[in-house]
Amino acid sequence: MFDIKIFDGMKTEEKYNMMLSMLKSIIEDESDVITNISNATALINAIIGRINWCGFYFIRNGELVLGPFQGMPACTRIKIGNGVCGTAVRERKVMRIDNVHNFKGHIACDAASNSELVIPIIKNGKVYGVLDIDSEEAARFTELEQTYAEKSIELLSKYIDWEKLSQ
Ligand code: SME
Repeated sequence: MFDIKIFDGMKTEEKYNMMLSMLKSIIEDESDVITNISNATALINAIIGRINWCGFYFIRNGELVLGPFQGMPACTRIKIGNGVCGTAVRERKVMRIDNVHNFKGHIACDAASNSELVIPIIKNGKVYGVLDIDSEEAARFTELEQTYAEKSIELLSKYIDWEKLSQ
């Protein structure tokens, strides 16, 4: 059972640390990659808050293909180098965009999104995809959200065989 009320009254960083412990306990005894990524998406979406989209794209046959997510239906394929997600992959770096409307080439999926955080998934030097989080609020994502989104990917990388999701 998952009860979001346990987070009531917690400070943001405390909540995010709890998110990491819950993430570990959700995935450590489950081997199915789709199951684990789906639960990770739901957990991150529930805990980070004030976001309207949270999900994964995985590199399949040389382009990013939509994976498990929470939010409105989204564009299914993104070329490497395109949009915020494709740029994160090409440059192998986190993209924390305060105002997506100022990002040249931004791909609008949910028209309501105004800021975006994209974490590339890199293991042993290979890029497998991205975690993408959008918010209706401008500049929603601070260094704190970036740090914990990166920690979430680091944790997932210990348990998930990304090769099974990427080709
Ligand atoms: N905005 C992203 C596209 C994915 S959606 O936000 C879900 C981009 O520019 O790559």
